[in-house]
Amino acid sequence: MAGEQARDPLSYLWAPLCAVGSHGERPNAQICVAVFGASIVPDRPRVLVGLWKENHTHDLVARAGTLAVTLLSAEQSTLLAPLGLRSGRERDKLEGIEHRLTRAGDPYLPGGTGYLAGEVIESFDWGDATGYLVAVRERARLTADEPLFWRDAAPLLPGSFVSTFQEKSARDQAAARRVMIWRDG
Ligand SMILES: Cc1cc2nc3c(=O)[nH]c(=O)nc-3n(C[C@H](O)[C@H](O)[C@H](O)COP(=O)(O)O)c2cc1C
Repeated sequence: MAGEQARDPLSYLWAPLCAVGSHGERPNAQICVAVFGASIVPDRPRVLVGLWKENHTHDLVARAGTLAVTLLSAEQSTLLAPLGLRSGRERDKLEGIEHRLTRAGDPYLPGGTGYLAGEVIESFDWGDATGYLVAVRERARLTADEPLFWRDAAPLLPGSFVSTFQEKSARDQAAARRVMIWRDG
């Protein structure tokens, strides 16, 4: 369409912005767009969650074997920086952020559209990341808000977010390039 930039088809495959949480000594959460429905059997719901190995949450999920996924609402775009640009390895990222814990002890954010939580039943090594196949054990709608997509959130984010995100992405991509499973075509 005139005046509109054509979108990369891959960009439509990003899930709504989610906060994926797990726990060790304390709960932690990170932003994630690699969350996919992975079951056709209604009473056996599964999701596949892709977490990069550099992330603290990745290691927490590997150890705890459980996670929670909150679908963020538009109001929660302010959480993209604290949960998506910084690591919880050295700090309590959830301090000052309203959250609740699932039965397993994983954090979800009550201001979100909804949440689901469950148990890892298989892990797939992608080299740079792990795909966690999760059996969903609990889920609920939290608010009447619709989920938030990156394409809608991105134009509204401050310049300070964009510059930090670009620098972090360049570092993350270089690290992923070194170890990712890939075959040149
Ligand atoms: C918009 C956005 C999308 C992201 N998507 C993913 C993703 O799909 N998977 C992932 O592992 N990290 C993703 N991240 C990066 C993590 O949220 C980020 O590295 C975070 O600081 C990790 O925190 P942790 O070390 O406390 O786990 C995304 C970040 C942003 C801002």
